[in-house]
Amino acid sequence: MVRIAVLGSGRGSNFKAILDAIHGGRIPNVTVSVVISNNSDAGILETARANGLPAVHLSGKQFPTEEAFADALLRTFSEHNVHLIVLAGYMKLLHLRVIRQYRNRIVNIHPALLPKFGGRGMYGMRVHEAVLAAGEKFSGATVHLVDEEYDRGAIIMQRSVPVTDGDTPESLAAKVLRVEHEIYPEALRLFAEGNVVVPDNESVVHHS
Ligand code: GRF
Repeated sequence: MVRIAVLGSGRGSNFKAILDAIHGGRIPNVTVSVVISNNSDAGILETARANGLPAVHLSGKQFPTEEAFADALLRTFSEHNVHLIVLAGYMKLLHLRVIRQYRNRIVNIHPALLPKFGGRGMYGMRVHEAVLAAGEKFSGATVHLVDEEYDRGAIIMQRSVPVTDGDTPESLAAKVLRVEHEIYPEALRLFAEGNVVVPDNESVVHHS
């Protein structure tokens, strides 16, 4: 069983899709061990509680330093025996300590076809506005590993949606969100089956 922590800041629709997939037996090797949010009133925490799952509010504001916040996150992960960190609308950058300790075991979903339309400032409606302004014929969703650089880690899964005449940022967001809800559970299943193989950079350096 792969034990996951789900981190989110808002409504948590991707988390709901993941829970539905677990309850529907579509990802039998994954179990949610804890849900964490930096917002005490986030929908994602309500959903966790409604499903009897540990729901933890952890925010940088509760700690004197970034390091203390990172250590609290790491403690929570280890208390719940977390193997994989799943970012689902988490609006905060993870501290380097967390990224290093969970290297290749942190995934995120982004509402565009990375590497396009990613990076600093590319979140929420801004992504869809940028896609429309660029005149793209397709957008989509991307599940990727998280490393030190924003939206730059290895891509695990992508699915596209057509951009059609008359699309608004809102209509495009809704189309993309539907595929997010399909591919995030699928990507977690692949991960849990051991079918996400990432290059081991350290050993590459070591052997050369
Ligand atoms: C999604 O669009 C996701 O791609 C982005 O944040 C949004 C989260 O939505 N990273 P939700 O909280 O899962 O509904």
